[in-house]
Amino acid sequence: MVDDLVERSEDQAAQAVAGRKRRPRVIAVANQKGGVGKTTTAVNLATALAAARKSVLVIDFDPQGNASTGLGVGRSVRKTTSYNVLMDGIPLDRAVMPTAIPGLSIVTSSVHLAGAELELVEREKREFRLKNAIHGCIADFEYVLIDCPPSLNLLTLNAFCAADAVLVPLQVEFYALEGLSHLVSTIERVRRAFNPTLEILGVVLTMFDKRNNLSEMVAADVRAHFGAKVYQTIIPRNVRVSEAPSHGKPVLLYDWRCPGSQAYIHLASEILKREGIAA
Ligand SMILES: Nc1ncnc2c1ncn2[C@@H]1O[C@H](COP(=O)(O)OP(=O)(O)O)[C@@H](O)[C@H]1O
Ligand SMILES: [Mg+2]
Repeated sequence: MVDDLVERSEDQAAQAVAGRKRRPRVIAVANQKGGVGKTTTAVNLATALAAARKSVLVIDFDPQGNASTGLGVGRSVRKTTSYNVLMDGIPLDRAVMPTAIPGLSIVTSSVHLAGAELELVEREKREFRLKNAIHGCIADFEYVLIDCPPSLNLLTLNAFCAADAVLVPLQVEFYALEGLSHLVSTIERVRRAFNPTLEILGVVLTMFDKRNNLSEMVAADVRAHFGAKVYQTIIPRNVRVSEAPSHGKPVLLYDWRCPGSQAYIHLASEILKREGIAA
């Protein structure tokens, strides 16, 4: 009798905990410019979140597959990829692979993804294919980061329809703000047409060079434009960050002490704090 009661109250407690468990946050890392730090941010933010004991999935959604390489998953071991999930209706679970980082998994990409844009045109509900594919398959994760390709194409649109929020890496350079109004208006249009709760999670300044006077001016300009959406954490230009992918490692694993690693750790804790979660 007592045992029964204890068991039942334990069950209830477990259910209460499960009920309190947040649903996964799906974040698209996007900017239609290439080379601004999307992949670097997806890989290293994911690693820093995993280091903060969050369970994290990276979906490599760029045909170039740099996030897969950067997380140490070479082409020869990529079997079921984001292409198969998107186009062949393969359940996401079958495409999820572990990485060397505890708590961090990946869905790799393949070059076939480059053709998906054309193939998608003929499909029904083409904007929602990724959303429908991941629905019900990501409950084990607290964060899902989608590394988007460098364009505002149907792949990025699929990421925006599947996501709760968009994280925008912005390279600190003279033309930083150029093209950004297009990105913002695209997010606005997606919100109106497909995904009413989509928000801009934040803007992260990348490759900041403190020896360059222009950097401070550009950073101030971006802050004037985006206000509190811009994270306090700025990712510095740091050679260790650019070396890490050639070793198939996030920079946090390659050299956790370097300024780039420290910045990504700060960014993760800033993001968690903004969401009201202690890092
Ligand atoms: N903070 C940084 N310091 C130095 N190099 C960086 C930094 N962030 C990114 N890079 C390098 O810049 C290039 C472009 O970055 P990447 O993340 O691939 O951009 P994107 O995904 O937007 O195309 C890569 O060679 C990357 O290693
Ligand atoms: Mg990239």
